[in-house]
Amino acid sequence: MRALTVIPHQPGSLQVQEVEDPVVGLNELLVEGISLGICGTDREIASGLYGWAPPGKQQLILGHESLGRVKAAPKDSGFAEGDIIVGIVRRPDPVPCGACARGEFDMCRNGLYVERGIKEVDGYGSTGWTVLADYAVKLDPSLGEVGVLMEPTTVVAKAWDQIDNIDKRAWFDPTRVLVTGAGPIGLLAAMIGKLKGLDVHVLDRATSGVKPRLVEELGATYHTGSVADAAKAVNPDIVIEATGAPAVVVQAMQLDIPCEIVCLTGVSSPGSSSPVDVGALNRNMVLGNGVVFGSVNANRHHYEQAAAALAKADKKWLSGLITRRLPLSRALEAFDITVPHDDIKVVIDLQK
Ligand code: BGC
Repeated sequence: MRALTVIPHQPGSLQVQEVEDPVVGLNELLVEGISLGICGTDREIASGLYGWAPPGKQQLILGHESLGRVKAAPKDSGFAEGDIIVGIVRRPDPVPCGACARGEFDMCRNGLYVERGIKEVDGYGSTGWTVLADYAVKLDPSLGEVGVLMEPTTVVAKAWDQIDNIDKRAWFDPTRVLVTGAGPIGLLAAMIGKLKGLDVHVLDRATSGVKPRLVEELGATYHTGSVADAAKAVNPDIVIEATGAPAVVVQAMQLDIPCEIVCLTGVSSPGSSSPVDVGALNRNMVLGNGVVFGSVNANRHHYEQAAAALAKADKKWLSGLITRRLPLSRALEAFDITVPHDDIKVVIDLQK
């Protein structure tokens, strides 16, 4: 079969090549890959900054934003030929830690978890793949091509789930959310904010193009400029940071709004420092009961929440997030950051 492979920590090693067909293990589904979404993590792995090959191997099959069609399923697995599915990304650590033992592997406490296409297990970027039935999630076939947005939606479903849990620490009746960054994560976070009935504001540096249009079509308000200015105009109860850009992250953390919750979702590269008035930051957070927290990955519960959100969302708006489709043979173009593209989500068609 054909696969998108990379040698982690070796820049320039990304390629599409013939690899051995997957061997179907016990309780596994055999799946035909339909499409694969590409995100910042994939680009980071391709550029040599992140990622781990399976033990004993040099190469990793890339890809964790999956969409596939079941070709064969074990009896009583709950799946049948033709089902449209996505594969869950993370697997619990082998110890397991308390969180993994309870199915909350997204909150793993010892870091020994593995992730399809990212950490020590081959991903979903191939014409065929297998997945344990317990780590597959059936999708409503009416979702069609936007089913590939399921995984990034699970990541924001988890972030919102955590925000909802933090909300419960005291009376809090949030009405306004500010999302920084109008990439796939920011826009999907904004979409869930709208589904929750909130007044949603999205800040991005783009002044024209697809981002302001999608925010407007969502019924949210688009802002450009600094986080401080947007926050002044919006007075948000919740901030979801989805750029991972250090300058934006620092501004989001320094906002002085009582009882505000700031959720960080963007993975930034280490190595950038900027002067911060830690005294003021701490003072504001303590005197304002502020919460700044990070959120990553998603467990099965969040996959269910994401499926429910996608079912309620406007399919036409969702398909607008997919701004470029490439056949697998041209997958490397999705990683070429030297070509300016007004992209939100690039998707690889695995059968082309
Ligand atoms: C994926 C998560 C994963 C994280 C860190 C993200 O791009 O969506 O599932 O946990 O990268 O590896």
